[in-house]
Amino acid sequence: MKSIYLVGFMGSGKTSVATHLQSVLNWTVQDTDQMIEDYYQMNIPSIFKEKGEEIFREYESNILHQTKKENTIVATGGGIIEKEVNRKWLRVNGTVIFLQTSWKEIERRLKDDSSRPIWNNQSRDKQRLLEERLPKYLEVADYIIYTDGKNVEEITSEIISKINA
Ligand code: S3P
Repeated sequence: MKSIYLVGFMGSGKTSVATHLQSVLNWTVQDTDQMIEDYYQMNIPSIFKEKGEEIFREYESNILHQTKKENTIVATGGGIIEKEVNRKWLRVNGTVIFLQTSWKEIERRLKDDSSRPIWNNQSRDKQRLLEERLPKYLEVADYIIYTDGKNVEEITSEIISKINA
């Protein structure tokens, strides 16, 4: 089967849903942020600090193209949909699941987070970023799952029933 690409804003639960889906489907998991760190031998905050967001987006695009297109669950970074080339690639190559989470819920989940450079950049309006990204997530999504108030198990079974695996 085509690989499953989980997309959604920071804090939408892509990584934990990927891990849980793995235990149900017995597929491989890939995580684009982790792949970037391994391939470029730098952690994400350092890439943003030393190279800037534009270079990070180039790295991210390169890594997306290296993900496995079959029987793999791919947890992507929240901004993967920023580049049009990535959106096209996702539409063609994957089954894309958009984990849609409200601003209120994202704020609650990430209130103590200090690991995400964009989330921790005080001069960025993250709520606006979520609004701006919404049409891009919708553009690539084969299926939309609302995550507010649901646990990982519930989200996973919704995905399984949608994709008929
Ligand atoms: C980003 C989200 C992060 C990571 C990077 C940029 C974004 O991934 O790729 O910090 O632009 O939204 P998560 O969605 O896993 O936090």
